[in-house]
Amino acid sequence: MLCMLQNLDILIRHDAIQKRVKELAQEIEKNYQGRPLVVVGVLKGAFIFMADLVRHIEMPLACDFLRVSSYNKDRSTGVVRMDFDMTQPIVGKDVLLVEDIVDSGRTLSYLLKHMETKKPSSLKVCSFLYKETGAGMRARVDYIGFDVPDRYVVGYGLDSEGLYRSLPYVGAFKE
Ligand code: IMP
Ligand code: MG
Repeated sequence: MLCMLQNLDILIRHDAIQKRVKELAQEIEKNYQGRPLVVVGVLKGAFIFMADLVRHIEMPLACDFLRVSSYNKDRSTGVVRMDFDMTQPIVGKDVLLVEDIVDSGRTLSYLLKHMETKKPSSLKVCSFLYKETGAGMRARVDYIGFDVPDRYVVGYGLDSEGLYRSLPYVGAFKE
């Protein structure tokens, strides 16, 4: 733990994350007013955020997951590949897509196109983090946990070459 801390600047502390996740859940709950919801998490990055988020949304909801890869050794390849898709149809359902981070926006663009073909009655996006890199996807993200600077961040689900997902805070490697 100590050596991880030495290499990382902590950007968002655990208690700040918990507070914000509760706020997002309340906002989501209010906006859907008891309409049953399908929450779709994008693996692997969203698994911790989604687990915390759904436990604060006090209404009936279903959880599903899909997995895409777009990164190759922490560098965007620009190519998004679907590794596996959801297990339940979403036609006519209110769907909330849950992402760990929107960076270049390529993954999100790909996923929105993919999900729209399945004809949900509504499709909203909740991203734990938003990195402003000029991609202009902000308007398409309905709920944003935190804005982060243009640095590589890890923790609370986000990895670097498969590691650091389990950190309870968000950190950025010291430059
Ligand atoms: P985008 O397609 O460039 O928006 O990137 C989306 C995906 O890349 C996210 O779902 C993450 O898995 C990964 N990613 C982008 N930036 C970071 C970062 O700073 N840390 C960890 N993963 C990242
Ligand atoms: Mg990743």
